[in-house]
Amino acid sequence: MHEKNYKRYTITSALPYANGPIHIGHLAGVYVPADIYARYLRSNRQDVLFIGGSDEHGVPIMIKALKEGVTPQDIVDKFHDIIKKSFSDFGISFDVYSRTSSEVHHATASDFFKKLYDEGKFIEQTTEQYYDEQAQQFLADRYIIGTCPKCGYEEAYGDQCEKCGTSHNATDLINPKSTLSGAKLVRKPTKHWYLPLNDYEDFLKEWILVENKTNWKTNVYGQCKSWLDSGLQPRAVTRDLDWGVSLPLPDTKGKVLYVWFDAPIGYISASKEWAEQNNKDWKPYWKSNDTKLVHFIGKDNIVFHCIIFPAMLKAEGSYILPENVPANEFLNLEGNKISTSKNWAVWLHEYLVEFPDQQDVLRYVLTTNAPETKDNDFTWKDFQTKNNSELVAIFGNFVNRTISLTNKYFDGKVKPIGNLTSIDEEVIKELQKYPSTIGESLDKFRFREALAELMNLARLGNKYLTDTEPWKVFKTDPKRVETILNISIQICANMAILCEPFLPFTSAKLFKLLKIEKLLWNDAGSHNIVKDEHLVGEAELLFSKIEDEAIDFQIDKLNKTLQENTEKNKKIEVKENINFDDFVKMNLVVGSIVEAEKVAKTDKLLKLTIDLGSEKRVIVSGIAQHFNPADIINKQVVVLENLQPKMFKGIESKGMVLMAEDNEGKLHFVSPSSVIDNGSTVK
Ligand code: 2FM
Ligand code: ZN
Repeated sequence: MHEKNYKRYTITSALPYANGPIHIGHLAGVYVPADIYARYLRSNRQDVLFIGGSDEHGVPIMIKALKEGVTPQDIVDKFHDIIKKSFSDFGISFDVYSRTSSEVHHATASDFFKKLYDEGKFIEQTTEQYYDEQAQQFLADRYIIGTCPKCGYEEAYGDQCEKCGTSHNATDLINPKSTLSGAKLVRKPTKHWYLPLNDYEDFLKEWILVENKTNWKTNVYGQCKSWLDSGLQPRAVTRDLDWGVSLPLPDTKGKVLYVWFDAPIGYISASKEWAEQNNKDWKPYWKSNDTKLVHFIGKDNIVFHCIIFPAMLKAEGSYILPENVPANEFLNLEGNKISTSKNWAVWLHEYLVEFPDQQDVLRYVLTTNAPETKDNDFTWKDFQTKNNSELVAIFGNFVNRTISLTNKYFDGKVKPIGNLTSIDEEVIKELQKYPSTIGESLDKFRFREALAELMNLARLGNKYLTDTEPWKVFKTDPKRVETILNISIQICANMAILCEPFLPFTSAKLFKLLKIEKLLWNDAGSHNIVKDEHLVGEAELLFSKIEDEAIDFQIDKLNKTLQENTEKNKKIEVKENINFDDFVKMNLVVGSIVEAEKVAKTDKLLKLTIDLGSEKRVIVSGIAQHFNPADIINKQVVVLENLQPKMFKGIESKGMVLMAEDNEGKLHFVSPSSVIDNGSTVK
């Protein structure tokens, strides 16, 4: 490790919301890199506190509970356990996995707020906010819809119009309504506390734009710069909700800390929990200048971890600031954005059932493909190729050849090294460089680069075997093979050490195959790790080939999801309730098509003449791409008779023919189940 001498490391990873399970996007963006870094530091005998936990507050959790008819606590209890298990199954080596609904967190967050409040660090402001009288609560902007003041779209969200993309305040919407109850909203005054971020602007500019200009990732630096360049505003740190950390102030019932105020304090609470359980002192991990604090997050969390949380820590006064925030971009899945609500994801608990004991394969593929500098795509084909052509064909193959040959020629015994040839010397020299080459990349949070170097070591081993051909040489010069296999076994031992941060399960297996105790980073680089006459175990495959069927199964699964989503999209077209009076206003009448012809110069329109019993009607209908005029003569249909007449290409259309659209977008007539008199009404 080539950096300033830190005494300890506090490594945090974004606390996931406990309202759904964990998928590959979470692992790739945050938890695998954080875990690699923590394991690497531990392998370097550093004092590490690696923190994780569930973020259990916030409106989406409340909404989910409301929808499912359970309490928010029920929701977070369920997902906290599921998430915690997934992390542990994938070897994410948290020292503590805590949660923000815990007592220690409520006390810590509440005290943090109170200290800032007592020191006058907040601005108090009363503003008018929308209130849903039916649901009896103030609404977050996301839960308000109304007409966009800019483009007139009727279902624009309170914070942004999805149609024209304009950002606005909920109070700008025309006819705002609650998405919780559908009720019209009223404005009510409410008091909140704001952190005046503008007061911290100078400090943040100096700290980020000057001091961290060269060591922060460009994507992180760029986002911060753009926030700082556009000027910071006071941010409300409280909300009117009954789920969260209550305000430690009198007369504030129904008010809680904003989830993004309490969540990062969760890292501190988790540290306290860890200290309590392990008889340690948490304070140096947060307050001592010889501690390196690093936040692992996804790009959507940058502003909170680089601007708001540091401003909070600065305001509090006794904490250190993060030394780095190596945020990643996003991982897509087969070309589409990962989406929990659309089930467009690879869920970790499902992966484990479908690829048992292959956690390291996923860790490997996600690291080689990590969205370090730009969004990246995960595809099942790439997953298969990386497993078969890299893990199996390079890493696994080298280890397997070495251990098999050692067993075959020397009954598993590692024989002493004899005279070195120039090839041996070259390999030994190369080998020495790997711990520092890989380490330097890891020190810079370049996980892909580091893993590529690790694979280069396996390549070096393979090339060494191919160049020296022990299987040929043995017949004539078995002494020479003793040296070749000794050196190869040393490379295997190096692989076991150096792959541990990336592939912890494989590392453990490899140490077991070699029958040596776990070793640390400093032991690597040497060709004297495994002692002469040591007995290695039998060869066993480290990785196995993934067949096409397993990949096809995954792709089919995703295709099914796509199809289900298309069907669901149809079902969920929500419309406002109408009353019976609205319904009977529609005069729905059965009629027969007596004439049909294409409307000139259009692709879509048919001019239909329909016999409604008492009269014949001309109706222009957009069905020309679905039916041949000749095929629909005499077809009985249902007509909305009293629709306002409208001109189409110079033809007056009086009414509308009802059609049903199926999932493929094909149109079908709505007809009585048997032929009845034209003019019959539909009721
Ligand atoms: O974006 C998220 O999933 C948040 N729950 C991350 C919180 S990180 C920290 F502040 F707790
Ligand atoms: Zn709009």
